[in-house]
Amino acid sequence: MPPAADKTFYVTTPIYYVNDAPHIGHAYTTVMGDIITRWHRQRGEDVWYLTGTDEHGLKVLRKAQQEGVTPKEWADPLIQTEWMPLLETIDVANDDFIRTTEQRHLDGARAFWQDLYDRGAVYQGEYSGYYSVGSEEFVDDDDVVDGEGDDEGFKISSLDGSRVEYMTEENYYFKLSDYQEKLLELYESNPDFIRPASARNEVISFVSRGLRDQSMSRSTFDWGIKVPWDEKHVMYVWIEALLNYVTAAGYGSDEEKFERLWPADIHIVGKDIARFHAVIWPAMLMAAGQPVPHQVFAHGWLLVGGQKMSKSKANGIRPDELVDVFGSDAYRYYFARALTFGSDGSISWEDINARYHAELANGFGNLASRVAAMIGSYFGGALPVAGELTDAETKIVRTVESAVADADAAIDAVAPQDALAAIWRIVEDLNGYLTEQAPWKLAKAVPDEGGPDAAAEGGRLATILVTAAEGLRALAVLLNPVMPKATATLWSSLGAEPALGPLADQRIADVATWGALPAGSTITKVPSLFPRIETP
Ligand code: MSP
Repeated sequence: MPPAADKTFYVTTPIYYVNDAPHIGHAYTTVMGDIITRWHRQRGEDVWYLTGTDEHGLKVLRKAQQEGVTPKEWADPLIQTEWMPLLETIDVANDDFIRTTEQRHLDGARAFWQDLYDRGAVYQGEYSGYYSVGSEEFVDDDDVVDGEGDDEGFKISSLDGSRVEYMTEENYYFKLSDYQEKLLELYESNPDFIRPASARNEVISFVSRGLRDQSMSRSTFDWGIKVPWDEKHVMYVWIEALLNYVTAAGYGSDEEKFERLWPADIHIVGKDIARFHAVIWPAMLMAAGQPVPHQVFAHGWLLVGGQKMSKSKANGIRPDELVDVFGSDAYRYYFARALTFGSDGSISWEDINARYHAELANGFGNLASRVAAMIGSYFGGALPVAGELTDAETKIVRTVESAVADADAAIDAVAPQDALAAIWRIVEDLNGYLTEQAPWKLAKAVPDEGGPDAAAEGGRLATILVTAAEGLRALAVLLNPVMPKATATLWSSLGAEPALGPLADQRIADVATWGALPAGSTITKVPSLFPRIETP
């Protein structure tokens, strides 16, 4: 889904609740969004990547109360010590970070609400029913069951197992029920609006059953943004949080920026919050006369030991526990490669460790160091002049061409695992090519008297090593969105920058153009990109 030529490709993550520190579930969404945006940047597109924190609502308020501080006093240090450093830990290049307590959000949210009110999309009423603080959600009676085990004696939401509370209070309502037909039409005419198919089917069947109006304010506590026309109410946290996507994009403050960014190209979310994004959010935008996003992509759960990973189940893993051992590149690679984006997937320490050694250390890392070492020993570290390409070299060129095309298409299909599988064909074919061609044997061969010298400039040895170096150049560019650190090291070892410019400026469309590294480029030893790790 490439963006229109003059529009910025705008990608978002959910904004995360700041009741606690981040775990790898949050980091998963953010890393995948980062890989997608980095790929688009590498295509030369103008890109904007937004993430942030959701700071209002009862969940955060109660946590702060437990800790004996105000919500702001709770959130400020947590964001400084946990949420912002997370982005460095997992090497995310976001363009903006929005906190819902920032003035730009308060102003934009109030303006949007006033607009909804003025357009007649809101009315006053009373809500009597269940509410889940865990998921900050009003829960229908039909979705409430009796708890068992640890939840014995409590009422539980069957939607996600969280405990619910009964409440009666004056609320404002958003006329969501007006949007059933319009939403069904949107899903129908725009099949990619909500993906993957499992999420789309779930959303369509939910909306087909009929929509009730949505309670949109709370009046029994005051941690939230005051409703502009009635300051006894604060905005219900979801009907405020969703607005971050427009308030960060300049809604109500910077019209020119808003023009450039909105609508979002893709909202990446977990499937737990697909309904909010694919039902309530587009209806709110329609009510306000704004364009809807191009796509909501709902990914699956990270499972640990077969169970959904979550902080409350005590199987929550901190991203730095893994990054400290494997590094941020391998971390990013693992989540992108080992799981199918859009489905649930199990992760384990053993699997990360196995892939690290097989695919990164022995596969990609070893290939890079062998090639650089051979150019070092046989040609004094200067890239030689290649001779005639034979079928074996042409096959490598073809592999790169098809890998580029397939990976590019996979990114448009929001399938980073397929992009990596395509790129890995280059690693495998190059390794196979080197084994077959055995350049180390050519280097040892005594030149025929008066015949062609295989080890000279323009000979077979040179051709093979230049082909391998060109393959590494392609890999550095293609893998940069996934593993920015290792590929920067590789780029510098290939001596590519003087002739080709910085790695970030290399374009996906040019990757398969052969012979880009000029003869004479200074190739230096590749420091071990993925050193072996002794784990307990
Ligand atoms: N604040 C809301 C989102 C508002 S967006 C306008 C929220 N926050 S959250 O902190 O609970 O984050 C939920 C998101 O974190 C999920 O949608 C998903 O992106 C990510 N994940 C949390 N746990 C996860 C797993 N176990 N597995 C995969 N992703 C997970 O909801």
